[in-house]
Amino acid sequence: MLSLAVLPGQESVTKVLVTRPARGPEPSNKAAERGARRIYTEVSETPRSRLFQERHSISILQAARPQSNMDKFVIRGGNPLTGFVHISGAKNSALPCMAAAILTEDGVTLENIPHVRDIETERRLLASMGAEVDLREDRTILSCRTLSDPVAKYEIVKTMRASALVLGPLIARTGMARVAMPGGCAIGGRPIDLHIKGLEKMGAEIVQEHGYLEARVDAQIGRLRGAHIVFDKITVTGTEDLLMAAVLAEGETLMENCAREPEVCDLAALLIAMGARIEGAGTSTIHVQGVPSLHGARYRISPDRIEAGTFLVAGAITGGDLTVANCNAAHLGAVIAKLEEAGARIDVLAPDAVRVRAGGPLRAADISTEEYPGFPTDMQAQYMALATQAEGVSLVRENIFENRFMHVQELVRMGANIKVDGSTATVRGPARLSSAAVMCSDLRASASLVLAALVAEGETVVDRVYHMDRGYESIEEKLSQVGAQIQRLGNLFAPRERAHSAA
Ligand code: UD1
Repeated sequence: MLSLAVLPGQESVTKVLVTRPARGPEPSNKAAERGARRIYTEVSETPRSRLFQERHSISILQAARPQSNMDKFVIRGGNPLTGFVHISGAKNSALPCMAAAILTEDGVTLENIPHVRDIETERRLLASMGAEVDLREDRTILSCRTLSDPVAKYEIVKTMRASALVLGPLIARTGMARVAMPGGCAIGGRPIDLHIKGLEKMGAEIVQEHGYLEARVDAQIGRLRGAHIVFDKITVTGTEDLLMAAVLAEGETLMENCAREPEVCDLAALLIAMGARIEGAGTSTIHVQGVPSLHGARYRISPDRIEAGTFLVAGAITGGDLTVANCNAAHLGAVIAKLEEAGARIDVLAPDAVRVRAGGPLRAADISTEEYPGFPTDMQAQYMALATQAEGVSLVRENIFENRFMHVQELVRMGANIKVDGSTATVRGPARLSSAAVMCSDLRASASLVLAALVAEGETVVDRVYHMDRGYESIEEKLSQVGAQIQRLGNLFAPRERAHSAA
């Protein structure tokens, strides 16, 4: 439970966010709590609260570090975003690349790892198995010389489904693995049956017991063997997991109907630098010639195309003039094409810089999510926020996940006109969005709500931003730097120095 307290005698300058555990003791200073309630009411309900006039007190407020994971953003809409924003490394590349370190006894150095919560979760996961992970500002050094405990525990897997990515490399390196079955999640069932099927074809014996997958390679065979794998369905982490298994398998592996996402290419490039023999990554057919061992390597993670796409939408929805720097424009084709169709003016200034400007009123354009190079499902929610501001009817079809419209209800509460029928959302615009208290349900849904809040009238309180912290580095700082009015209540995520010293 969150409340704001005013320290006695410092009412005018110091507000500290205090957290009270659900059944914990009350704050001793009742007056402070009463004051806190008053201020909190102002923050959440007064249209022109003092939040943005009292930056000083907010910065102190941010410095306080509550125990709660219920951080909120307060966003005052209406500012066009202008200037430059720098894109961080791709979370979805960094996760499999960190898992790839399991495949060698040598050190693996990764540059451009984003400082986001999922990376910290992956660090914890690897460390719990005996790996040494040194997360630094400019590079991360991983050493899996000893893997004393090849177990991915439920406590960690349940918070990040990508933890299943350790299954393939653990079996390949140690001949055994114990990985908690990931449960369902907000955006759908998300099974890992295709990972399991592929590994079984490569000779692993896998049983499910007590919520865990117990996998081992027959001791007499000792090593996975190459196989012909045809994915029933295109899966990104499935392709990555089996690729990591195949590089140390005996003989050749042929994988068909593979994911072609840039994150698969990033992983393959790292594995090749480690001595793997891989051809075809980035196409739907990948050949792997297994090798007996891999060595250490150094690799730079590509820019995050979803973060870049989110900022392109931010520039377009606010009618700003934003240059998204340090990105890879080649990875943004479908998003750029759709934003242009919707009326935004886009200039690819350089291979790593894209400028977005208002090109007149936004107009409706349909999207249909597909595997890369189609329109990414990870951009669907953000695009829907934009569609609420476009003139006409936009159809948004979600083809990858069955339940990825959790943001709709929250957008509707802000005034959007959206109807969902099965996997299609019909968005009628432009709608006048007004501030409301809204709740994040998953990573990309949270980005959608922040985008909507940037154009909503008044101050929107976006709750449960820990979802956003999973995948967006310093999001409120980046948005503030280009003119957004956004403040965090609470300070869930440790600043870099603290997170690193804990690493
Ligand atoms: C990855 C991304 C995620 C993105 C998604 C789709 C990471 C860490 N996450 O997730 O951000 O939204 O790709 O681009 O890279 N499926 C099965 N069986 C399986 C595996 C998948 O049926 O064994 C289905 C899924 O339920 C889903 C579809 O295949 O309907 C695609 O899922 P998948 O590509 O595997 O998503 P993730 O790799 O989990």
